[in-house]
This record gives sequence, structure tokens and C-alpha cells, in this order.
Amino acid sequence: MIDSFKITGGKKLYGSIDIESAKNAVLPLVAGALLTQETIVINNIPDISDVYKMFEIIRLMGGSVEICEGSAIISATLNKTEIPKGLASEIRSSIFMLGSLLATYKIAKVAYPGGCDIGSRPIDLHLMGLRCLGAKIIERHGYIYCNGENMKSGIVHLDFPSVGATENIMMASVMLEGDTFIYNPAKEPEIEDLQNFINAMGGIVSGAGTSVIKITGVKKLHGVSYTPIPDRIVAGTYLIAGAMAGGKIELKNVIPEHIYSLITKLTQSGCVISAKGGNIYLESNSRPISCPSIATQPYPGFPTDLQAQILALQSISNGISIVTENLFETRFKHVAELIKMGAKITVKDRSAIVHGVSVLYGAEVEGHDLRGTASLVLAGLCAEGVTTVHG
Ligand code: UD1
Repeated sequence: MIDSFKITGGKKLYGSIDIESAKNAVLPLVAGALLTQETIVINNIPDISDVYKMFEIIRLMGGSVEICEGSAIISATLNKTEIPKGLASEIRSSIFMLGSLLATYKIAKVAYPGGCDIGSRPIDLHLMGLRCLGAKIIERHGYIYCNGENMKSGIVHLDFPSVGATENIMMASVMLEGDTFIYNPAKEPEIEDLQNFINAMGGIVSGAGTSVIKITGVKKLHGVSYTPIPDRIVAGTYLIAGAMAGGKIELKNVIPEHIYSLITKLTQSGCVISAKGGNIYLESNSRPISCPSIATQPYPGFPTDLQAQILALQSISNGISIVTENLFETRFKHVAELIKMGAKITVKDRSAIVHGVSVLYGAEVEGHDLRGTASLVLAGLCAEGVTTVHG
């Protein structure tokens, strides 16, 4: 485990890098592995502790997970359907297992999930969706007790297109007889990846990426070997690194359309970006220009998971920018740290007003969540002197 990053700023970036599979695609797929007792192979898994914790949960419930040459080989014949507090509370994605446990075993006891501290992160939409399909749910003493014996296909309308709730409901309904419809689902690329994964296992799901997802129940799913989509947030973070530090970079294994919202902003900032096949190239030779307004939205809007990084870019750009966070209420903890490095930012309600400065200074800073910490590393790349990012 790395405790801190030490970054000596001021070097331009040149080079090429392969993008790993998307964390947010892999985590629901690992939960989806519980939809069959046959072997599931997930290829090109990212080396991320959340993923290993999901494997640990499967092992605790009696399944097996082996890692072989970057692939996870999962065999989920479980003898328990309970996810204990310890691991569940460390990661948000533990809640995804609720849907797949109900689908396969009809019963689940799951502790409330944890995850990055970026807001209150309720799970009411997950539970509402499962209840719409007939699951009996009781919440007691920090646990969610679910019984899915009387679950039936049906209609779920989400008040907000929650990514996790959409994934949970998709998994919960794959083996319910008849058709289930999810109205106003999340449209993120990771939803489409989950649809493709379930269909590769013999499921019948359509509509991911649109306003209605249809799930036609099948009796049984089978094993599969699957390669998840590349990580659009990691790719976006590297592009912003190139924009901030300057230089010329190539990213391999990217799906450019997944990050059009970012590419548009980086082009406005003055970067020269081109895409060919699965590769993206970025060149940045001068001080970036501020983007007047950036507001996070569900996909295909600007992703909340790139808000901290684009805010770091605005902090050194020429001009004034207003960055609005619409998804998570306390996702500005990186701002206080960027200010320690010389950034001029004021937060009012859900917006950060950024007056770009021409130079940041290295400092000791503290990361509070995954993407916020990434933004501090990015700031360190172009700061004068040494930056130490703790946390
Ligand atoms: C997923 C991503 C996370 C990303 C987020 C939004 C994973 C593992 N994580 O998180 O990186 O930042 O999507 O793109 O895929 N909400 C409710 N009730 C619920 C569920 C959500 O009110 O039951 C609200 C949340 O508080 C938040 C918004 O809906 O304001 C979006 O949350 P959601 O899309 O569910 O995010 P996650 O699935 O937790």
C-alpha cells in the first residue's frame, strides 16, 4: 500500500499508456458472477482494492476466486448469503450483490455499504426497485434482510437514474418469469456493459443506454469469459494530466465516445485532441483557457467522477470558471487542498468559482476520496516544487 505520493512538478508528459478495464464496470460484473454457479472469467481486471474486497466477500460466502494472468476466475457456489459489516462497509459496490443474491438464492442479508465520502449516498432507490418486484425487505441493526421468494417480473420507475440501483434491479430480475421494465434507468456505459455480460451468460436484456431497459426472464444463466470496457474515468484523468502538465500523450484502449463531454471541454481549453481506432492523442503546448461553465450530470453529461480533476485544470487555466456538482453534495473536499497549493477557489452551495492562477506551489495535501486525490496528484504535476499527497 502506498501511503503518499511525492510529486516534483514542472515536467511535461510524453508517452503512451494502456487503459485498464473500468472499475465501475468490473464491480457490478463481479456481483453478476453470483448469477450462475458455473465458472465466470473476467479478463483484464484492474489492480484496485475495491475489486479485491469484492473477491474477498465471495470467498467469505463460500465461493472461490483465483487470479490468473490478469483474469479473475470466479466460481460462486455459495454456502452463505450474508455479507458481513466489515467488508461491506468498506466499499459501495457490496450492495450490488443484493440483486444477484436474490436472483440466485432468493435470500440475502447485507450490511449497509460504505464507499468514498462524497455525500450521503442513500440506497432507497435500490430497495424501492426490489420491493416493486416483490422482495420483502426489513432494515434492522445496520443490516438489510431480503427475501425474494415471491419476486415477480414487473415495472420499476426510478425517480433518479441511479447507476447502482439500475444495476441491482437488472441483476435481480434476470431470472424472473416474464418481462421487467426499468423506466428512467441510468444510461452510463457501464450499464450497457452489464447488459452485454448478462446476455453473454444467456440472459435477455435490451435497452441499456436508452430510457427503458427490458429484462426478459430466463430459467438459468451459464458461465462466460468476458472482457469489460476500458475505464473512461481513468482515461479522462490522464487526458487532464496531459492538459495540465503540457506535452503529448497517447492513450490506448479507449472508447472515445464515452468521454465526448470531457473531450469537448479539453478542446475548449486549447488542447489538440484526435482519436483513431481505440486510441486518443492529446497535445497541449500553452496555458489552458478556462471553461466558463462545467456542470456534472448523469451520462452522457459531464461525469461527477471527473469533476475534481477538471476543477484542478480550471485552477491553473486562464480565466474564470464555475464548476457545479449536481450529483453528490459534499464532493468538493479537494478544494481546500488545492487552495493550500495557491488555487483561488470559492465554494458556494453546489458551485465552485475558480479564478485561474498562473502558478500553483507544491504543498503537503490530503486526499479525502478517490477522484479528489487524483486531482491533487494532477495539481502536483504542474506545481512549482514538491507536492506530497497523503491519504
Ligand atoms: C456510481 C459509481 C460512482 C459514480 C456514480 C455517479 C460505481 C461503483 N460507482 O455510484 O463512481 O460517481 O455512479 O456516476 O459504479 N441516490 C439516491 N438513492 C439511491 C441511490 C442513489 O438518492 O438509492 C442518489 C445519490 O445520492 C446520488 C445520485 O443518486 O446523488 C447518483 O448516485 P448513483 O448513480 O446511485 O451512484 P452510485 O451507483 O453509488
